[in-house]
Amino acid sequence: EKGGFDHFMLKEIHEQPKAYRDTMLGRIDEKTHKVVFPNLNMTPEYIRSIRQIHIVACGTAYHAGLVGGSVIEQLIRVPVSFEVASEYRYRNPIITPDTLVIVVSQSGETADTLAGLREAQANGAHVLAITNVVGSSIARDANDVIATLAGPEIAVASTKAYTSQIIAFNLLGLYMADIRGTMEASEIAHVIAAMQSLPEQVESLLAQSESIKAYAEHISKHEHLFFIGRGLDYAVAMEGSLKLKEISYIHSEAYAAGELKHGTLALIEEGIPVIALATQDALLEKTVSNIKEVKARGAEVMAITYEEHVADLMRSVDQVFAIPKTLPLLMPALSVVPLQLLAYYASLALGHDVDKPRNLAKSVTVE
Ligand code: M6R
Repeated sequence: EKGGFDHFMLKEIHEQPKAYRDTMLGRIDEKTHKVVFPNLNMTPEYIRSIRQIHIVACGTAYHAGLVGGSVIEQLIRVPVSFEVASEYRYRNPIITPDTLVIVVSQSGETADTLAGLREAQANGAHVLAITNVVGSSIARDANDVIATLAGPEIAVASTKAYTSQIIAFNLLGLYMADIRGTMEASEIAHVIAAMQSLPEQVESLLAQSESIKAYAEHISKHEHLFFIGRGLDYAVAMEGSLKLKEISYIHSEAYAAGELKHGTLALIEEGIPVIALATQDALLEKTVSNIKEVKARGAEVMAITYEEHVADLMRSVDQVFAIPKTLPLLMPALSVVPLQLLAYYASLALGHDVDKPRNLAKSVTVE
C-alpha cells in the first residue's frame, strides 16, 4: 500500500508530479490557453463584482492560502485577507455579499474551517471550497468547490495536498483574471505554460533527495533553527517550519527576513542553522542582506535558490540547494519540496514515527 516507499509521507511527496498534473487536468483549454472551470456556480458577473477575498483555513491549508491568496491578489488586484479558521468567526469579520470566502481543507472535515464557512454563509458571502475530498462536509456545504486531485493523503503531515492547493489557487487566479480583464491572454498563456512544466521540475528535484537527506541528518543534531524569507518565500518558510516541527519535534521559527532585526536576531548565535529561501527575484538583494546579518552573528546558512543565483549566493552562505527556475509566483510549488524532504529525513534520523507524529490527528474534527 506504500507503493515501495518506507512511509506514506515519502510516497506522497513523490506523488506530487502526478497530483499537479491531475489538478490541472481538464482545467486548461489547450486551444485557447485559458483556464476553464465548467462546474463553478460563480457567474462572470459575480466574479466581476468581488471586492474582497477572505481565505480561511488551518495549518498547512492556511499556509497554502497564504501563497495562493498572495498570487490571486497580484493577478486580480482585489484585497485578500488571510484568516486562521479558529480565529475567524470570533473576531466578527466584515463579510459582505461582494466578499468571496475561500475555505481550504484537505480533509474537508476540519471543524474550525467548517464553522468559518457557516459564519461566512450566514453573512451572505459566497463560499468556495478548495478541498481534496469531494464528498466531505465542507464540499457539501460550500457554494462552490474546486477539487484538488491529489488522491488520498494518509500521512498526518500534509504534502501533496498543500502543493495541489497551490496549483488550484493559481488556476483560480488565472480564471478570475481573465474574466475581470486584469491579464492579457498572452500573459495567461505564459503562466499556464510554466505551470505545465512544474511536474517535470518536481521530478528533477526529487532526484536530488540524497543531498537533502545528508543535510537533514546534520540538522537533526540541533535543537533550534530558523527559516527566513520574504514575500512568497516567507509563506513557504512557514510551511517548512511547521512540517519540521510536526514530525521531527525540532523547534524552529519562520521569520520574515526583514523582521529579524526587530528582536529575533538576539537568538542567532554561533552555529545555529538558518534556512534561507531566496527565490523571489525582486526581493533577492534584500534577502541576501538579511542572510549577511545572520552570518555575521555566526549562523550556519543553507540557501534555497534557483541555478542562476547559486554562484552568487555561495559567497554569502555555507551551502546552497538549487531548484529549477519557474516564474516567481510559482516558485512555492518547487521550493517547498526540499523542505518536505528535510522534515521527513530529520524525523527519520531521530527515529520518530514519521506518518503518525505524537499528539496529532490527520483530521481535526473538534474545535
Ligand atoms: O484537512 P485540513 O486541510 O483542513 O487540515 C488542516 C490542518 O489540520 C493540517 O493541514 C495540519 O496542519 C497538517 N497536519 C500539517 O501537515
